[in-house]
Amino acid sequence: MRLLILFGILTLLITIGCKKAAVIEEVDEKDWYAGGSQTFFDQSGGAFANTFVGLTPTQEQIHSVGDKFFEASFVSSPSPINPGLGPLFNAVSCVSCHPSDGRNSAPAEGDNLHNLLLRISVSGESVHGGPLAIPNFGLQFQPRAIFGLTSEGNVNVNYSYIQGNFDDGEAYELRQPTFSILNSYMSFPSDAMVSPRLSRPVFGLGLLEAIPDWALLANQDLFDSNGDGISGKANSVWNVKDQKMSIGRFGWKAGSPTLLQQVGFAFSEDIGITNFLFPLENSYGQSQSVNSEKELSDSLIYSVTFYLKTLGVPAKRNISDSEVIRGKQIFTEASCVKCHTPKQKTAVNVAFKSISNQTIYPYTDLLLHDMGGGLADNRTEYLADGSEWRTPPLWGIGLTEVVNGHSNFLHDGRARNLTEAILWHGGEAANAKIYFRKLNASDRAALIKFLKSL
Ligand code: HEC
Ligand code: HEC
Repeated sequence: MRLLILFGILTLLITIGCKKAAVIEEVDEKDWYAGGSQTFFDQSGGAFANTFVGLTPTQEQIHSVGDKFFEASFVSSPSPINPGLGPLFNAVSCVSCHPSDGRNSAPAEGDNLHNLLLRISVSGESVHGGPLAIPNFGLQFQPRAIFGLTSEGNVNVNYSYIQGNFDDGEAYELRQPTFSILNSYMSFPSDAMVSPRLSRPVFGLGLLEAIPDWALLANQDLFDSNGDGISGKANSVWNVKDQKMSIGRFGWKAGSPTLLQQVGFAFSEDIGITNFLFPLENSYGQSQSVNSEKELSDSLIYSVTFYLKTLGVPAKRNISDSEVIRGKQIFTEASCVKCHTPKQKTAVNVAFKSISNQTIYPYTDLLLHDMGGGLADNRTEYLADGSEWRTPPLWGIGLTEVVNGHSNFLHDGRARNLTEAILWHGGEAANAKIYFRKLNASDRAALIKFLKSL
């Protein structure tokens, strides 16, 4: 592979000669290695599902147990295999929302909304400053229930369409979803805050978790003191295991501090499987709740967490393609890099060498940014207000179509391609969007081609 890269660099040197030293510098061999030593040269449908190299046999075994339970379908108790589903749930398995360790497509009008979930709350704060559960509904709407019980209701989506033009006159169309709750089993409060969320890819998360807190905090610019219109704020959320506030990293609003907690919350809220972090059924306190013993063993929640922690990152592609190089330049000039920070470094970790001291290219600062009214869900999650979202990593985004067979992006999947995803940017990212709209068609294409190389 190294030979191939050298060859690429050589060809590039020959083709562009000494036209632009800066450009040559950009084609740095390291640039291929999005996930540091855990980078995989895999462009197949399995590109998000590569196991870390260099694991010990025991670690490999834990990884494969985790993999098995990530894919397992749970059923209602009592059952000899995979019991504990529900009583209320969104889906029966992790993989149904994270196919091939990737993301789901957005629902079409009239679909049953089993694979997109609604986070819900009423105004106010929980004891630790998080969202306040809705009496009789909780923090997440579950449209399914086990046999014999009633689900919380149904969810419906409608799209409206917005027409617009690039500055060169070319037309575009954006679609805006509206979600509504139908046939709720009890009256659903009309002032509830509802946040629609589609799943996200789950590879590379061990590396993201290993970026030290101080590095994230150093990128904050709470009061925009450099005056570039972009602030960036770390979320601070309740860490259930450590019983303290921690920096939020995972989820569209960085509402989870650790992979372990994200996994525990998913088991509990999405599938209805109680565990040591979330020991109460998600229907706790509701009329038809039957509380059960801890349904998932500690070793299984740790195995699933370890499985996700040790999924590697696909390598960038076509980095010496001249159009990709131009797109990369535009990505910088348009200030995309101010939030989608290309490079991060993980902390030294003597206990786990695979994630230790790695230079990675996730294209995120993991911080919250105001993205404007168009994307706002008007629901707060700790320090994230109704229009703030965590910058999502862009690594692997160019493989979404290959892995998941669609190109739906943003927190609710409203964008039908990368261009629409950029056009929805507002708030702190409004200038980046305006810059994009001003580009001519060939520069826009170069930027998109760069994104597809990630
Ligand atoms: C009903 C669909 C659904 C199911 C089932 C589901 N997830 Fe998710 N997953 C999501 C959504 C939606 C998000 C984004 C959550 C947020 O914004 O808070 C997410 C986010 C995640 C993330 C964080 C990704 C990131 O970039 O921050 C991890 C890790 C994860 N899920 C693991 C799991 C595991 C493990 C399971 C099974 C126990 C599971 N998920 C089951 C929908 C689902
Ligand atoms: C102010 C910070 C900021 C800037 C500047 C910014 N982005 Fe984003 N970007 C975000 C956030 C936050 C989201 C998630 C928004 C949502 O889902 O509602 C996002 C989402 C995206 C997505 C979809 C990712 C996914 O996984 O669904 C793409 C693609 C993207 N941005 C590309 C760009 C490009 C290209 C530029 C420059 C033209 C840019 N962004 C500028 C913060 C920013």
